[in-house]
Amino acid sequence: MPSQQKALYLESKGGQLVVNFTEVPTPGPGELLVKVEAAALNPIDWQVQTLGVFIERYPCILGIDGAGTVVQLGAGVTSFVVGDRIAFQGALDPVQKSLNGTFSQYTTTAAHLAAKIPANIQLDRAASIPVALPTAALVLYNEDPSTQSVRLTPPWVEGGRGKYYSKSALILGGSSSIGQYVIQLARLSGFSPIIATASPHNREYLESLGATSVIDRNLPSAQLQVEATKLADGLFDLVYDAVSLPDTLPLANALTAPEGDLVVVSPSGLPQSDETSKKVHLARGLLATPTNRVVGASLLANIPNLFEGGDIEPNRIEILSGGLSAVASGLERLKSKQVSGTKLVVLPQETI
Ligand SMILES: NC(=O)c1ccc[n+]([C@@H]2O[C@H](COP(=O)([O-])OP(=O)(O)OC[C@H]3O[C@@H](n4cnc5c(N)ncnc54)[C@H](OP(=O)(O)O)[C@@H]3O)[C@@H](O)[C@H]2O)c1
Repeated sequence: MPSQQKALYLESKGGQLVVNFTEVPTPGPGELLVKVEAAALNPIDWQVQTLGVFIERYPCILGIDGAGTVVQLGAGVTSFVVGDRIAFQGALDPVQKSLNGTFSQYTTTAAHLAAKIPANIQLDRAASIPVALPTAALVLYNEDPSTQSVRLTPPWVEGGRGKYYSKSALILGGSSSIGQYVIQLARLSGFSPIIATASPHNREYLESLGATSVIDRNLPSAQLQVEATKLADGLFDLVYDAVSLPDTLPLANALTAPEGDLVVVSPSGLPQSDETSKKVHLARGLLATPTNRVVGASLLANIPNLFEGGDIEPNRIEILSGGLSAVASGLERLKSKQVSGTKLVVLPQETI
């Protein structure tokens, strides 16, 4: 085990990203030391870097999606062994406003917040799982009465698979990382039809994941609304707006049935003026959030089966060469919306 490693630091609010040497950490009680083989880029990374949001403690290490190999166990860990392949979220603390993220060669993670990755899934693709899958799933299946959720029975528990065959689902932004997982979960839960919006070049891929139809997201809003309503023969029981942008939110709201469920991924997307009987839910993908603990543990425990059996597949990925040094240009591409239907991934061990 080396004593030093490379990590990508954001040194100050709005500052530059810099690769620096730092010590390899020691896992505390209940923690795992992970050799990070792959880390995926997320919109929140550029939002923290360029808008200075969420984080107040600097320097910090960005990155909230990680996958790697367990190299050391902290005291009391019995659920993992050295050599396990895992996926995990970077340690983002919304109360402390701190982040000890995944853009590093080694990091620690709480064992109870990590998922084992089966042998048939490569770790570079597994890096797309930790943030987007929980963001898709927890708001659909959380039974905690104190949080917003559609409260469906998860497809990984008895009686959940195919249960909602009489319900329709619309996923706006179906080719986003989150959208790709929502489509697959809707398929497992039995929704029919499952309509997604995306650019036409992503149609075939989204249909392979379970979308029954894909509408061109560049159509004028009114036409999109007519097309979607025609395909579902009415308004939708479930609308998941996986991008929650100014042009999608009014559409999402308009297409949700009066008693239906509308999920948004951004708090600024919660409809204010339209006081209806619709149930509006904000997705919260952070596994460490106390109200996510029970459903999160259930999801994490079922990730090996869901991926090993092919029920869910990870996002398509593009690997950026250059290791951690490639993160900055990748975030520029995310910010300028030059990434379509793909997760950008870096391999920290390749950092020069
Ligand atoms: N609440 C939470 O806990 C939480 C957690 C994680 C992320 N988020 C937020 O969720 C959002 C999505 O994150 P992500 O990582 O899944 O995004 P992403 O993969 O980077 O999204 C890129 C995709 O967005 C699609 N898109 C862009 N504008 C669209 C529009 N007007 N209509 C339909 N699709 C559109 C593009 O589709 P085409 O290329 O097909 O056109 C592209 O494939 C971000 O705003 C992120 O900050 C929230």
